[in-house]
Amino acid sequence: MSAQVDLEREPDSDTDLILLDGQVPATTIWPVAGGKGGTGKSTLTANLGVGLALLGYKVILVDGDLGGADLHLFFNQISPPRSLGSFLTSETRSLRDVLLPTPTENLKLICGGNELVGAANLSYLAKERLIRHIQTLDADYVLVDLGAGSAYNTLDFFSLSNQGIVVCTPEPQARVDAYGFIKNTVYRKLRRRFARHEGIKEVINQFAKQSGRRTGRLCALVEMIGEADPQAGRDAEDLLHSFRPRLLLNRVRRRRHVDEVHRFLDLVQEYLSVKMDYIGYVRSDEAILEACERRRPVLLESPKASASRDIYTILMKGLRVSDRLHRFTAEDAGKLAQVAKTEARFW
Ligand SMILES: Nc1ncnc2c1ncn2[C@@H]1O[C@H](COP(=O)(O)OP(=O)(O)O)[C@@H](O)[C@H]1O
Ligand SMILES: [Mg+2]
Repeated sequence: MSAQVDLEREPDSDTDLILLDGQVPATTIWPVAGGKGGTGKSTLTANLGVGLALLGYKVILVDGDLGGADLHLFFNQISPPRSLGSFLTSETRSLRDVLLPTPTENLKLICGGNELVGAANLSYLAKERLIRHIQTLDADYVLVDLGAGSAYNTLDFFSLSNQGIVVCTPEPQARVDAYGFIKNTVYRKLRRRFARHEGIKEVINQFAKQSGRRTGRLCALVEMIGEADPQAGRDAEDLLHSFRPRLLLNRVRRRRHVDEVHRFLDLVQEYLSVKMDYIGYVRSDEAILEACERRRPVLLESPKASASRDIYTILMKGLRVSDRLHRFTAEDAGKLAQVAKTEARFW
C-alpha cells in the first residue's frame, strides 16, 4: 500500500465539500460485510434500507462491493446511468451527483457499476475522498454494501463505523470467515492507529507473525503494546473497546443455528477482545429468492413472508430503530407489513 494518509485531516480543496466544525450532518453509517461471499450482504443491505425508509428515514444505499457490484439489481436497475465509477475516476466531483432515485422518495441509491472491476484496489487518496463524501451525504442512514473477503478497501469501508454489520450464515465456513474478517479489521485499525509509531508497528507485526506471541489472544498484544509505550497501550485498549460490530445471522433453518451464535460471540470476545452485539436472524426463505428473481426487495414483494417479518424485528428490536412517524412500536413491528404493502404500489 502507498503512503498512509490520515483520515481525520482536512478535506482537499478539490472537492466541493465544506466541513466546518459542528456542521457535519448526523448521519448514521452502517457498513454491511461478512467475510464470506453469498451470505446475504447485498440482500440485507437492500431490505434494511427499504425498511428504514418505510420507518420514515432518509436513506442512501451505497454499493461498495467494488469487485462485484450488484446492489442495483434489487431496484430493477439493469444498467445504471450513473455510478460510483464516475466519482472514483473524478469525472463527477460530488458523490451526490451519482445518486439515483427509487420509487420510494426517501430512498436513494449509489450504484457500483461494472466498470469498477479494475478498481478493486483503490488508491488511498481515492478511498479517502470517497469516505469523506459518504460521511457528508444528506441522509439519516447510509448503508454500504461490501464485498466478500478482507481486502483493504473492504476493511477500510467497514471502519467507516464502529458498529458495522457482519452478515453470517450458520455454516462453520461462514463463521470462520466472519471471525477472520473481524480479526483483520482489528489489525488494520491498530496498524492505522499506530502508523506513525515505528516501535508499536513492529510489535504488531511481530505478534501478527506469531513469533512474539505469549497466547493467541489479542489482549496479549495490547499488553505488549502497553509494555512498549503505556499511552499506546491505553489507546489500543480504547480502540478495541469502542469497536462494537453487530452480528446478523442469515439463512437460519433450525433453532440450533441461533444457539450457536452465542458461542461464536464468546469466542470473538475471548480471542479478539471485541464485544459484538447480536442483532437477530433472518430465516431461510424462498420468498427472498423469488423477490431476487423479480429484482425487487422482499420487503416490498412479500411483506408478510417470514424473512420480511424477521427484517422488521431486526430493525426495531435488534437495531432499535424507532418509527419516526410514531405509527407503531417495536412490539408491533409486524404492522410495518401494512406500510410496505401500501408502498409496494409505487414500485
Ligand atoms: N434468508 C435467505 N433465504 C433464502 N435465500 C437467501 C437469503 N438471504 C440471501 N439469500 C440468497 O442468497 C444469495 C446470495 O445473496 P447475496 O445477498 O447476493 O449475498 P452476498 O451479497 O453476501 O454475496 C442470493 O441468491 C439470495 O437471494
Ligand atoms: Mg453482494
